[in-house]
Amino acid sequence: MTRILITSALPYVAGVKHLGNLVGSMLPADIFARFCRARGHETLAICATDEHGAPVELAALDEGIPVADYSAKWFKVQKELGNQFGLSWDNFGRSSSPQNQELTLHFARALWKNGFLELRTTKQAYSPTDGRFLPDRYVIGTCPHCGYERARGDQCENCTRVLDPTDLIKPRSAVSGAQDIEIRDATHLFLKQSQFVDRLRAWIDSHKANWPQLVTSIAYKWLDEGLKDRGITRDLEWGIPVPDDIGEGKLKGKVFYVWFDAPIEYIASTKEWADKNGKGDAWKSWWYGDAAKDVTYWEFMGKDNVPFHTVGFPVTIMASGEPWKLVDRLKGFNWLNYDGGKFSTSGKRGIFMDKALEVAPADTWRYYLIANAPESADSNFTWEQFAGTINKDLADVLGNFVNRVTKFCVARFDGKVPGEGAYGDDENALIAELEKRTQQYTAFLEAAEFRKALGELRAIWVAGNEYMTRAAPWTHIKTDRAKAAVGVRMGLNLVRLFAPLSWPVMPQMAVKIHQAIAPVAYENGAIAWPRRPMAQELDSLKADAPINPPDVLFAKIDEERVAALKLQFGGGD
Ligand code: 2FM
Ligand code: ZN
Repeated sequence: MTRILITSALPYVAGVKHLGNLVGSMLPADIFARFCRARGHETLAICATDEHGAPVELAALDEGIPVADYSAKWFKVQKELGNQFGLSWDNFGRSSSPQNQELTLHFARALWKNGFLELRTTKQAYSPTDGRFLPDRYVIGTCPHCGYERARGDQCENCTRVLDPTDLIKPRSAVSGAQDIEIRDATHLFLKQSQFVDRLRAWIDSHKANWPQLVTSIAYKWLDEGLKDRGITRDLEWGIPVPDDIGEGKLKGKVFYVWFDAPIEYIASTKEWADKNGKGDAWKSWWYGDAAKDVTYWEFMGKDNVPFHTVGFPVTIMASGEPWKLVDRLKGFNWLNYDGGKFSTSGKRGIFMDKALEVAPADTWRYYLIANAPESADSNFTWEQFAGTINKDLADVLGNFVNRVTKFCVARFDGKVPGEGAYGDDENALIAELEKRTQQYTAFLEAAEFRKALGELRAIWVAGNEYMTRAAPWTHIKTDRAKAAVGVRMGLNLVRLFAPLSWPVMPQMAVKIHQAIAPVAYENGAIAWPRRPMAQELDSLKADAPINPPDVLFAKIDEERVAALKLQFGGGD
């Protein structure tokens, strides 16, 4: 059976991430990982904090603490918040780990040896006002491609093009706003990306059928516009130092560019996992050579990351001349906007992971976010839509169903699965419908088509609800106990089915739902996916087995609360 390797874009270490970050990488990666485990696949879900680079150095300076302490502090916060959101990483590592130092140097040395790195004298932004060279992202100006006026020197967040500070029109310092930017000479290492255009194109062509169009169009745009060689060293303290044996000793005091070492942390975090768990060289079997032939590698990321994973990191791997695994399936996401505008970490606009958990339980957010994931286009968060989704899909449909069936079973059947009566036409029609819908739901999850998958999940719950309304055991109990028993028995079997189907999306709720029927027996770390024909799945509870109704599963959010939340979080009208 195929092994599944899953990575999500590594969140920058500085500060708490917002829900836009969560829905574009970590959450879909987790839902997919849980689904793969539930299906019985050996699965490895890898993430880490992306810790190097100028912003981290400057943020630590701002807080007045050493950058290593700053990074350690926010790594811990992010790991904790990830756990609270149910992100079931096999390893959540750190790009500043010794493992990443070692692997980054390994790749850099291979690239240097193979002649794909070159010393070049470059022109670099220097601000006399600030008294320093300015790292790329601290030069701000107008994007030469799209005219966006707040483009950063490393990338334009409007059109996603990767930039150099010298590309910017009217550059200024992001630190002080100073416009007296000078361009001075500096020696740096360049990765000869331009030599890989043909190989990259052939590789991207080979994935046209199984990567979203969003991803291939970004990748082709890059290649079509002519791929530039890329500077991979920076004048910073914080980062992986360039050793003397690379660059003829001319790079003293420089570190590798954060985007060079960050993707290598995918591999290094896997090594961290092996080292922590005494698994020796097992990490390599996920990544290297023939040992990794049975691995399908999935990456999840926002669209701004796509160039680095369709070009930058693949070039590092190709240039190494070693058989490291390239990504097989690359799932990219558009933006989630907040009330018509952008989520913004610097502008503190939107909802951040810590605050979100003060508003609603993690599973509620997981459901809402993934049901509205920005897959084929940007999507927009509004508090009204959030409340509407929770109230309707979760409280009225799923929660109400589970509570109503289990409570009625306690009230009228002594809290035990009733064995009387036999399934008839209505039950058989429901079984046929859910057979089909579960197959579709499974297929959408296999393809990581989340919005479509969630549409099916909702339809499965709705079908159960509508069945219950037709079966109306609360009416039949007065005249025909066996008929009421059939409705309740099917209802309880549906509750049992909803647990595994909901588990990848809402792991905590799924456990509560499952416990209404029976204790959870985890397989492969998961509530196992239904494997039998639906007629068996929906007739699997033994007569007289005790059930245990849960408390109300989902609290509704009323209009007053919506108004208060809008005020608290600054959502516009
Ligand atoms: O965009 C970001 O948040 C980056 N920190 C993602 C890095 S992904 C990987 F390559 F490390
Ligand atoms: Zn632009």
